[in-house]
Amino acid sequence: MMEKQIIEIVKTKEGTDTLINNRINELYHSLHGSMQESMHVFIKNGLNAVNKNLPEIKILEMGFGTGLNAILTFRENQVLQKHIHYTTVEAFPLTNTITDKLNYFEFFGKPLQPFFQRMHGCNWFENVVFGDFVLHKIHADMLELQLDGSFDLVYYDAFSPTHQPELWTFEVLHKIYQPCNKGAVLVTYCAKGEVKRTLEKVGFKVEALEGPKGKREMIRAIK
Ligand SMILES: C[S@@+](CC[C@H](N)C(=O)[O-])C[C@H]1O[C@@H](n2cnc3c(N)ncnc32)[C@H](O)[C@@H]1O
Repeated sequence: MMEKQIIEIVKTKEGTDTLINNRINELYHSLHGSMQESMHVFIKNGLNAVNKNLPEIKILEMGFGTGLNAILTFRENQVLQKHIHYTTVEAFPLTNTITDKLNYFEFFGKPLQPFFQRMHGCNWFENVVFGDFVLHKIHADMLELQLDGSFDLVYYDAFSPTHQPELWTFEVLHKIYQPCNKGAVLVTYCAKGEVKRTLEKVGFKVEALEGPKGKREMIRAIK
């Protein structure tokens, strides 16, 4: 019998791929559609909700994973035309044998594929320039990382509190809050009451927004 791989590709209802981590039985995105979820939570309610007057948007992502949020942000910025500095933290980088197989580009255009491959292939701990978009990948455990810099927008895309409660604690969310600029926006697909209360304790003003397909709500928090 073939041994089950730890990370496997799974098809979502919209046809786009996502991944499952079989060790913790946790999906990287919603089974209703990885792209619709990322577009709704992170682009529409995050990127498009930050102060329009900012010439540069400094983004922090928790969990680089498949790179979907990064490439969708890069794509959106072809319209926004801002300077984007995208810092992303990942403890368990995927191999390119997996990321090269993701079918995202059947859905949002082949010309973006070389950028996506470069995003995965580029060095960690360096600013890598893609025109107006600068990617800085940090290979580290968020629990141990000391965050430098200042951020206008946070994509909080950790695995769920059920599977990784340690990433949704006061300590970790406070560590994220501190380097955020006043007015910074944090978005997450998670809508748990306990997470809302923790974000409030940390100092954010929290709002519940309509969720992506298949989810009633999501959270947006403002510093
Ligand atoms: C829900 S997935 C989302 C990833 C990504 N944003 C995407 O669209 O594919 C969560 C990610 O967090 C990473 N992760 C889990 N624990 C972590 C930790 N302690 N520190 C940093 N990254 C972690 C996982 O490896 C995974 O890539």
